[in-house]
Amino acid sequence: MTGQDRVVAVMGAGTMGSGIATVAVRAGYRTIVHDLDEDNLKRGIDTVFGFLDKSVALGKLTEQQRRDAVALVEGTTDLDAVAPADVVIEAIFEDLDAKRQLLGALDAIVGERTLLHTNTSTLSVTAIAAGAKRPERVVGTHYCNPAALMKLVEVADGRHTAEWAHQATLEFLGSLGKTTVVTKDRPGFIVNRFLIPWENSCIEALESGLGTKESIDSAVTGALGHPMGPFTLLDIVGLDIHQQVATRLYEQLRDPRFFPPAMVGRMVAAGDLGRKTGRGFYTYDDNRLFGL
Ligand SMILES: NC(=O)c1ccc[n+]([C@@H]2O[C@H](COP(=O)([O-])OP(=O)(O)OC[C@H]3O[C@@H](n4cnc5c(N)ncnc54)[C@H](O)[C@@H]3O)[C@@H](O)[C@H]2O)c1
Repeated sequence: MTGQDRVVAVMGAGTMGSGIATVAVRAGYRTIVHDLDEDNLKRGIDTVFGFLDKSVALGKLTEQQRRDAVALVEGTTDLDAVAPADVVIEAIFEDLDAKRQLLGALDAIVGERTLLHTNTSTLSVTAIAAGAKRPERVVGTHYCNPAALMKLVEVADGRHTAEWAHQATLEFLGSLGKTTVVTKDRPGFIVNRFLIPWENSCIEALESGLGTKESIDSAVTGALGHPMGPFTLLDIVGLDIHQQVATRLYEQLRDPRFFPPAMVGRMVAAGDLGRKTGRGFYTYDDNRLFGL
């Protein structure tokens, strides 16, 4: 499935939704971005446009390609506007009831063969899919943050996911230029099983004075070959999201390595959530959710 004749809908214009929408328009899909909140919708769309502008400045996109991509984006707060979608990618708050309700509502609006993708980090795909009348077309697609840049997407079927939906999902993600790994519908999939304990250990290293945020970030990019250090990444992810994901995985896996260090709670209480509030480990004076 490629080309502008097919339609992608992204539900939720936050950190992940704006990144996923960027990828979809770059791949040539007409992309409807839906959010309940007008301000979040505007900010998400601005993030998509900001990324496209930056791509032109970096010589990765021509001015014409930017104009073509911009013309493919449509923002809405009206759920009925996503009716023409061939693929719906749910990237709303990590809340089981909210995701189930949304899938139930989408079921009644979109076509029968429309794929329903959920970008949950910690919830069961099967439990989310139970909100849909047709759970066979619900697939877990876990994008890595920043979604506009990171190639990998984890694919996890729910208990009732149909083979056609699984295959169509792999094809769709391929058309976005993503690399896929198929995993099980289990807490944290593959990536967060490794990433969350590692991020927690980096925060503990900072708390204990082993290094500064800058020196730990430099050590990780310089020696481990990561594209960005843990504190740059956590500021993009959002400290609230890290706290939520880490706590939920701890609750499900009962492994203390997942429990968020005390510093995370203090930062969240202070509103220092990262890029989205202008301050996390670092401070920011631009309005971009993934800063690129
Ligand atoms: N942040 C990450 O690093 C990351 C990585 C992978 C997956 N995820 C998952 O992606 C999802 C979104 O996370 P995020 O960090 O982008 O969250 P976010 O808080 O940045 O954005 C969520 C957006 O969804 C909107 N929203 C809430 N309910 C809605 C509804 N019913 N319909 C439409 N819009 C609605 C909110 O207004 C908000 O703009 C979560 O399930 C999260 O676990 C996050």
